[in-house]
Amino acid sequence: FSVNWDAAAAEKGGFGTFMEKEIHDQPKAVEDTLLGRTDASGRLVLDELRIDPEELKGISKIIVLACGTSAYAGMVAKYAIEHWVRVPVEVELSHEFRYRDPIIDDSTLIVSLSQSGETMDTLMAVRYAKEQGARTLAICNTNGSTIPRESDAVLYTHAGPEIAVASTKAFLAQITASYLLGLYMAQLRGKLFQGEIEDILADLHKIPGKIQEVLDGGDQIRELAREMAQEPSVLFLGRHVGYPVAMEGALKLKEIAYIHAEGFAAGELKHGPIALIDQGQPVFVVVPSPHGRDSLHAKVVSNIQEVRARGARTITVAEAGDGDVVDYSETVFYVPETQPLLMPLLTTVPLQIFACALAAEKGYDVDQPRNLAKSVTVE
Ligand code: AGP
Repeated sequence: FSVNWDAAAAEKGGFGTFMEKEIHDQPKAVEDTLLGRTDASGRLVLDELRIDPEELKGISKIIVLACGTSAYAGMVAKYAIEHWVRVPVEVELSHEFRYRDPIIDDSTLIVSLSQSGETMDTLMAVRYAKEQGARTLAICNTNGSTIPRESDAVLYTHAGPEIAVASTKAFLAQITASYLLGLYMAQLRGKLFQGEIEDILADLHKIPGKIQEVLDGGDQIRELAREMAQEPSVLFLGRHVGYPVAMEGALKLKEIAYIHAEGFAAGELKHGPIALIDQGQPVFVVVPSPHGRDSLHAKVVSNIQEVRARGARTITVAEAGDGDVVDYSETVFYVPETQPLLMPLLTTVPLQIFACALAAEKGYDVDQPRNLAKSVTVE
């Protein structure tokens, strides 16, 4: 008698790689990160923070410290927290921070973002900030790891263990946790009405179902990835919260598919990068919501036209119902509608699927790319 049980496949939830599994875990990662963080009356309660609410009220500046994908989550956090809380937020790569004589005092809140909680660059930056008198808050996915242990406060993301070197579900969970932190600070400081906070939370709770819709449409993206496997270079453009998403799309492709990829702020095109565009150059464009800031959508649509006119192969990630991109896009991936600030939780997903499928098509080890470690514990 023998049981036909492939333990490795079971660990991967029936997917071929951990990365695929973790991409598909994302609805749950976001849902679990939101879970249990409101009371019966709908108010946010982040008791686990271990930081006096009065102290959070007195914060005059936030500095987000992180590396790689986590730093892109930090950039998304900046847009949301500044908009909701009206406190200045700087985002800095941990390894640059200590070497520039940063201005920190006891009204500075350091928010570190780390999946592993063991990234040496981020740990050293947090220690440095503490020595300078800052309050430190860790947003982290690994219970009991070093960075949250050494921080004054912690807000755990509940993405579950992330095995693939390329971060996916931890990224979405970090963004979700940063939104919670921003909304909590806005609540404490009276910067948003309770009804506004509840509306945003209600939209956040709809995100897992919407991520699932994007996952269900994954075949269209995988097909494009197979077709593009031989491309030597791919560019990504985005604006506002789409800018860090573009950078993240490029990083995923570099990391696991070993393709030259770069993410730019779309507004920067005319200041240099547009010179890179020639016949057939693939350009992904993360298009802002047509319901967002005045004219931002129109500006990005005109960026798509500009690169297309120079021969680019344009692939757009746009909100469902956005008809303006159709005429200028070779391929459009639609994601469901949500509030403009929440869009990264949806627009990132097609880019992850694309990188994962392309690396697999090239026969690379998707989960363990060359030269990289999951957690970078050296400086
Ligand atoms: C993400 O795909 C990368 N593997 C890498 O950039 C990572 O996000 C970075 O090293 C930070 O790791 P951390 O979140 O564990 O601190």
